[in-house]
Amino acid sequence: MGRKCSRRSLMEFPILLIHTLFLLFFPLPLLSEHNNFVRQPAGQLIITPHQRSHSDPQQVHISLVGKEKMRVSWITEEKHAESVVEYGTESGEYSAKSTGEHTSYRYFLYNSGKIHNVVIGPLKPGTTYFYRCGGSGPEFSLKTPPHNFPLEFVVVGKSLSLGFDISLLLHRLVCFCLRDLGQTEWTASTLKHVESREYDVALLPGDLSYADSQQPLWDSFGRLVEPYASKRPWMVTEGNHEIEIFPIIYPQPFQAYNARWPMPFQQSASTSNLYYSFQLVATHVIMLGSYTDFHAQSQQYNWLQSDLANIDRAKTPWLIVLLHAPWYNTNEAHQGEGESMRQAMEQLLYNARVDLVFAGHVHAYERFTRIYDNKVDSCGPMYVTIGDGGNREGLALMFKNPPSPLSLYREPSFGHGRLRIVNETHAHWSWHRNNDTDAVVADGIWIESLSSSQACSIQQDDPNEEL
Ligand SMILES: [Fe+2]
Repeated sequence: MGRKCSRRSLMEFPILLIHTLFLLFFPLPLLSEHNNFVRQPAGQLIITPHQRSHSDPQQVHISLVGKEKMRVSWITEEKHAESVVEYGTESGEYSAKSTGEHTSYRYFLYNSGKIHNVVIGPLKPGTTYFYRCGGSGPEFSLKTPPHNFPLEFVVVGKSLSLGFDISLLLHRLVCFCLRDLGQTEWTASTLKHVESREYDVALLPGDLSYADSQQPLWDSFGRLVEPYASKRPWMVTEGNHEIEIFPIIYPQPFQAYNARWPMPFQQSASTSNLYYSFQLVATHVIMLGSYTDFHAQSQQYNWLQSDLANIDRAKTPWLIVLLHAPWYNTNEAHQGEGESMRQAMEQLLYNARVDLVFAGHVHAYERFTRIYDNKVDSCGPMYVTIGDGGNREGLALMFKNPPSPLSLYREPSFGHGRLRIVNETHAHWSWHRNNDTDAVVADGIWIESLSSSQACSIQQDDPNEEL
């Protein structure tokens, strides 16, 4: 898809130049991924264009926010567009209306559109709603999660991204107006496979857009995922590609991420959008931040301790954690990057009998056994790395040898995972590899909740017991 050199493109040139100089002199996480492992070559990229009017909503996505409510987020280029959502259970007939808030941000010469956030509800469980954002533009529909089990999560990591790397950046500096960007064929394949089967909620453990300070790529990513993220709640946590700091000028990380992907942190008594939890159908999901302070007595650590202590496992048999940099990893890529967080927080998760920990970051799939402190432990969480959604950087092909007895399945292929919680005691995890146009179930396992295990019972009033 070709495009002419626009005035906006020319305005972005100084940003790219500054960013390139920054990349040359400062070690961004982007560069740290290129060490001694080899990835498959990436595919051609195309950008997802904006084809609606300035006042119409774009980049629409929804997320869970408290009991029986959803947050609808979207962006308009028109600054006077209203932050309202009309909705109802009949197409074209909107019996309810909610008003919300808006924000925006600036990054060098880039000015974001008007970012709208509106909470709608209470909504009935397992129900399809039709909605319209800002009083104009297309109608969208969403389905709320069920009231009872079964509950199905889709887990996609690393990411449904547009992707971007230094070679592309340098190439853009040479022929910025001629170059087209966008998604990879693997991204499209993963998205198609995710939607081909019913699910209730998507979980994404970080590295969403790979914008890496190229702010227009956030917009392109939002448009890319809108057909999916406007239908089912997408619950995300941040990865290293969302940091986007620039010394002195933009020292605060995650500016774009926090503005564009607000998560329900206030509802779980967190003070940061970078870590939070939510409750859904007797399942408690905790989203941790790998790139904010996690050491003992940090705000995140204290919040996690308090959040775990407030879970009643008799009423909430399933406990799931997501984070970005894996604590257990036998791939050559990103070795040891989650180790300090593991040392700080693993005991909290173990004592609370967390059932599953999902991570991203590594561009491959790997499933471990139940672990505590680097040893097989039937009362520890099962760890899964699922960093293979379809990024431009390709796959992390090299695993360490000999294989660790802790690692039960590992494969460098793109795909997505599904966690189907059948009832209070049993769930099924499956990993679906992208085989060209088909999604093939390559790995699957039944899991029993630790809350139903007599051998792993804990004192409910003291989840942070000393070992
Ligand atoms: Fe990452």
